Amino acid sequence: MNELEQLDKVVDSLDEELNQIDDLNALQQKKASYLGKKGVIASAMANMRDLSIEARKEIGMRSNKIKQMLEERFEQKRQAIENAIIEKKLKSESIDVTLPGVQLPTGGIHPLNQTIMDLEDLYISMGYTVAEGPEIETDEFCFEKLNLPKGHPARDMQDTFYINPELLLRSQTSPVQVRTMLKEQGKPIKIICPGKVYRRDADDATHSHQFMQCEGLVLGKDITLADLKGALLEMAKKMFGEEREIRLRPSFFPFTEPSVEVDVSCGLCGGKGCSVCKNTGWIEVLGAGMVNDNVLRMSGYDPNEIQGFAFGIGVERITMLKYRIDDIRNFYTNDIRFLNQFKEVK
Ligand code: PHE
Repeated sequence: MNELEQLDKVVDSLDEELNQIDDLNALQQKKASYLGKKGVIASAMANMRDLSIEARKEIGMRSNKIKQMLEERFEQKRQAIENAIIEKKLKSESIDVTLPGVQLPTGGIHPLNQTIMDLEDLYISMGYTVAEGPEIETDEFCFEKLNLPKGHPARDMQDTFYINPELLLRSQTSPVQVRTMLKEQGKPIKIICPGKVYRRDADDATHSHQFMQCEGLVLGKDITLADLKGALLEMAKKMFGEEREIRLRPSFFPFTEPSVEVDVSCGLCGGKGCSVCKNTGWIEVLGAGMVNDNVLRMSGYDPNEIQGFAFGIGVERITMLKYRIDDIRNFYTNDIRFLNQFKEVK
């Protein structure tokens, strides 16, 4: 076989060989076998040395053309393989956005935390800051500095867990008032203090040995009972709805004078009277009052200069009213069927 025939043969066999290749490695090898140093073209050229000038010219030209053609064909094939790879990848990675998604289990916010967050939102928007205090408290801060000396009969209102004669589990969040007053040393104050409290009560549908309160304290010049009413009316509307009203009834707390019990108009009957409000049209939600002069004095405030109000919201109580929960123990037993109902609550 002469060199020209050899070259033509190369071209004849190319198509069939390329058809059988479908990956880039194999293609690279095949290309080397045609165009590489030891490839078919190179060996055809190697034999030209003994030929006449004309024959060399012809074979040279022809082999150059064939080389060019081979380069093109290999390049086309390479692109075809790469396209096929991309096509395959796209197919395998395509996402059908119309398929139903996988529902992952998620937690929710506990209704008590939700209430505290709502209260914080509201009062922060009215310029209050959030203060905290320890749950293990001294008798002095929890009672004595709140105008409840040792042996005072009103201590019976709050059956207390004592750790020793001076230390106790706080039975109310009011000691945070004392701590803040001592820190601020006569300056105006505007705080709420949400947190846990403890009382020596037997647990039942409406009592729990541990529950939560949200204390409020505002001290400044010329703060009056009307300001207290405003602060609590906003709370009632935010927690229970715009149409709600509040009323204040005289009451007694050793640390406030005058003291009031605050009722919110019943949302079930709109104030007409029903079983939830025991036919009164009103539901009791919290205690409050103007800070007692003795309390101010004991923590370094001059009642002639500065006065103000305090309130103590029962977090469980307003949460139960808001979501119509009839047993306080539901909050603490972690029954997932109960908690799941609050996932979507905002
Ligand atoms: N600390 C009172 C209680 O637990 C509530 C209260 C707070 C009343 C502030 C008046 C002022 O019962």
